[in-house]
Amino acid sequence: MSAIFGYVGNEPAKELILTGMAKFSGHKYDSCGLVLQSQTGALEIEKMAGSLKELSCKGIVSHCGFFHLRWATHGSICISNAHPLTDCKSKISIAHNGLIENYQSLKSKLQSLGHEFVSETDSEVIAHLIEQFINSGSDTIDAFKFAISQLEGTFAIAMITEYDPETIYVAKNGSPLFLGESDNSMFVSSDASVIGSFSERIVYLDDQEYCVIKQGDYSIGSLYNFTNSMQSEKFNIELEMIEKGKYDHFMCKEIFEQPSRIEDCLRGRMNEKEGNIHFSDSSFSHKDLFGIKDMVFIACGSSWHAALIGNMMIENLAKISSKVEYASEFRYRQPVISESSLVILLSQSGETADTLASLRRAKELGAKTLAISNAVGSTIAREADSCIYTHSGLEIGVASTKGFTSQIAVLSMLAVYCGRMRKLSIFEGREILDSLKNLPQLIDKVLKSDDQLKQLAQEIYTQQFFLFLGRGFNYPIALEGALKLKEVAYLHADGMTAGEMKHGPIALIDENMYVVVIIPNGTAYDKITSNLAEIKARQGKIIAIGTEGNTELQNIADHVIYVPLTLDMLTPILTAIPIQLFAYHLAVFRGMYIDQPRNLAKSVTVE
Ligand code: M6R
Repeated sequence: MSAIFGYVGNEPAKELILTGMAKFSGHKYDSCGLVLQSQTGALEIEKMAGSLKELSCKGIVSHCGFFHLRWATHGSICISNAHPLTDCKSKISIAHNGLIENYQSLKSKLQSLGHEFVSETDSEVIAHLIEQFINSGSDTIDAFKFAISQLEGTFAIAMITEYDPETIYVAKNGSPLFLGESDNSMFVSSDASVIGSFSERIVYLDDQEYCVIKQGDYSIGSLYNFTNSMQSEKFNIELEMIEKGKYDHFMCKEIFEQPSRIEDCLRGRMNEKEGNIHFSDSSFSHKDLFGIKDMVFIACGSSWHAALIGNMMIENLAKISSKVEYASEFRYRQPVISESSLVILLSQSGETADTLASLRRAKELGAKTLAISNAVGSTIAREADSCIYTHSGLEIGVASTKGFTSQIAVLSMLAVYCGRMRKLSIFEGREILDSLKNLPQLIDKVLKSDDQLKQLAQEIYTQQFFLFLGRGFNYPIALEGALKLKEVAYLHADGMTAGEMKHGPIALIDENMYVVVIIPNGTAYDKITSNLAEIKARQGKIIAIGTEGNTELQNIADHVIYVPLTLDMLTPILTAIPIQLFAYHLAVFRGMYIDQPRNLAKSVTVE
């Protein structure tokens, strides 16, 4: 019978943990081990085959650690099979009670990715799996959740990593695990009676729950399920998702995944007969949305750009008054919203601190809240009244690509849904659905411009000045293009609505300025053609993104990238692809760290 006992608080951890160990003396075990963590995160591990009394760890100054008593299931009784077990770099230490049934297949997969195993246990796979997710750009909490969601079998798991000082992560499925709380001290134990002698309060973890434990604080989440009585859904993260396959970078892989990701996002949601959408994963009723008088979209970064597009779609199709707010601003303002407002929080990761704070603020003010997120079970998804998932799969590259276009696809469906409740006709609904259905194959076509964009990037990667112009539905794509260039190619770029150029930025245009003009056929087309003439007159270089068949553009632009014809409101999903590829190839030629650019994190969980 294996056992786990851990502590985090402001007392010396070693003494408390050894006292806890002594209380397990009735348990059968064949080996044991201990991890202590210093305040800076460094780990000290000591293990041994044999009985408890022989363990005499030197110990460091530590307020966080756990021990494990092992009763062997896989592998002989020896030090290397004793827990804590670690990843390749010994930065992640885990203890596990239970049995991982699919460990062989996970182990082979991880070995083929270069992981070296030192034990014969089923448990070691957990540390390497978490490591693999971290290597691929996930933060610790996501890596922990993603890895655990791959496990089949029973488990009570404790983890301490060098990445997070004084934090214990735990998860449970089918094996007992309890938390204990006493002032600033937090305990975790596989035996409730042991924890009872240290704590004033016991917290029972349910199966399929995880918990992040810090001094005097803990937060519990679901590994696979929505809370708020939403339907259950398992994390659907295949190991393939964390491999680059034939691509050099995750960003490139994720750009090329977009046809299938948009397909996943649309799947099962379109009712062509009714010209309408059904969001089976959202608990919003028709009645809830019908009473809505205004909408506020709240987001950060690329999600904010997607929100700008959603805002236009909602106004056009549903005729609902709506606006877009930066989460970092909204949370500190005195916004005028009411019970008849719907606040829509867009967040790929579902963990962005400003967006989460805005969600809580909107709830305090009585508004209804709807999250649009890619991360199943994320905090924003759980705390909002309802959530629509984008289903774009794990996005590892820090630069959002497939996450962004899937958000636009969800927003277009939401606009159809809200529109159909009001004045949007069944025929208009059907026309949009038809065009949505064609998107995956149209994106495939746009991806064929990859070589052209690569060649263009090779020609101009030493240039320094870039401007992105768009209008209407493609104004946010201009903003997104500039953001992509900044974050992956470290190039300064400005994005703006083309109508603003004459109000100042035109002064910048000369032969050194490269202007990416997003000008697909549609309502804004004629307005932007005058910008092209103005740029040309000042010897600026034009890279136009236009609609196939528009040969006029070749007469004025230095380079033309074509996208196929689609509805005006859906053009951003196509024009987003060349601006992503453009940034990607410029970054490659400039030798940048594409998937993990300097100073950036995938989820911005701090203010
Ligand atoms: O996970 P979120 O959608 O809430 O993230 C918001 C921004 O941090 C994110 O879009 C960021 O701007 C991306 N790195 C852009 O590529």
